[in-house]
Amino acid sequence: MLLITGGTGFVGNSIVKKALDKGLDVRLLIHRRKRPEFSQHPKVNQVVGDILQPETLTKALEGVDAIIHLVGIIVETKGASFEAIHHQGTINIVTAAQKAGIKRFIQMSALGSSPAAASRYHQTKGKAEEYLRASGLDYTIFRPSIIFGPEDQFINWLCQVIRYSPIIPIIGPGTNKLQPIYVEDVAECFIQALNKTDTIGRSYDLGGPEQFTTEGLIDLLLKLLNKNRLKIHLPIPLMKLNAGLMERFLPNPPLTQDQLLMLQQDNICDTEPVIKDIGLQLMSLDKVISQYLIDILYSFC
Ligand SMILES: NC(=O)c1ccc[n+]([C@@H]2O[C@H](COP(=O)([O-])OP(=O)(O)OC[C@H]3O[C@@H](n4cnc5c(N)ncnc54)[C@H](OP(=O)(O)O)[C@@H]3O)[C@@H](O)[C@H]2O)c1
Repeated sequence: MLLITGGTGFVGNSIVKKALDKGLDVRLLIHRRKRPEFSQHPKVNQVVGDILQPETLTKALEGVDAIIHLVGIIVETKGASFEAIHHQGTINIVTAAQKAGIKRFIQMSALGSSPAAASRYHQTKGKAEEYLRASGLDYTIFRPSIIFGPEDQFINWLCQVIRYSPIIPIIGPGTNKLQPIYVEDVAECFIQALNKTDTIGRSYDLGGPEQFTTEGLIDLLLKLLNKNRLKIHLPIPLMKLNAGLMERFLPNPPLTQDQLLMLQQDNICDTEPVIKDIGLQLMSLDKVISQYLIDILYSFC
């Protein structure tokens, strides 16, 4: 039995589907959301739990052979800080795995994570990685750049801005580089790693086959959506002020100061190790996105 935490989210959905395609028995840790499509599946078993409440994890781990830990947040809320969800949450599930005698553990981190990183998102993901590495579990860690797919937040949000706004705001010079990776490629890494013992004790950076500057990515989306828009570069100090105000007054701010820090940095990597060890063929963004762009456009109507 494979336990997937965070399996009801964007990336989790693809990983669960791939696990089921391989015939695996899957247990989902259900926090708030449910995925109706998995509720009736004979190979899916659902247990309600919260990564911040260790007592709920004991039941979730009964009969489990391996864990894929995906839980993460991109915006902090009152009851859920990055420190709690990323770092303490990982401590809780790792401790529960140790108590239950479960060895195999595959962790979702993020490219750029390190305890010394600039953003608290990356710092807390980095602390979680360090805790796992010292745990004695048979771990594998994946560290993706931005992930894209029909349900992603970032590219879909950019497409919406392009669709509706005559002006496209670009934060700062827009020269920082990203390496978007397709959600199905990320899912393939997690599922393949389950049976590849040579990935134990390894951490893999994940990125797609192309690197884009933020402005280059916007230009590609403009081309794919067949739109002409005025691009305006917004100074970082102004955006910092805006992000601070949005965090203070909006329940779901579209931009936070922590995200602003991440958006100013390059987020690129060498994909050779994961291609070699997992045997992955990375999908290119413009080819994949063109396939589901029609649906995105249709959903705006
Ligand atoms: N998307 C990207 O571009 C990207 C890039 C790099 C790394 N990552 C990492 O990939 C992971 C998944 O990201 P995603 O985009 O799929 O996010 P997502 O759609 O927001 O999914 C997050 C998942 O975590 C669950 N969760 C949140 N708080 C929880 C708690 N206290 N206890 C148990 N479960 C909890 C959510 O369940 P509820 O909705 O029910 O709360 C959901 O299933 C995260 O760790 C993220 O940091 C994502």
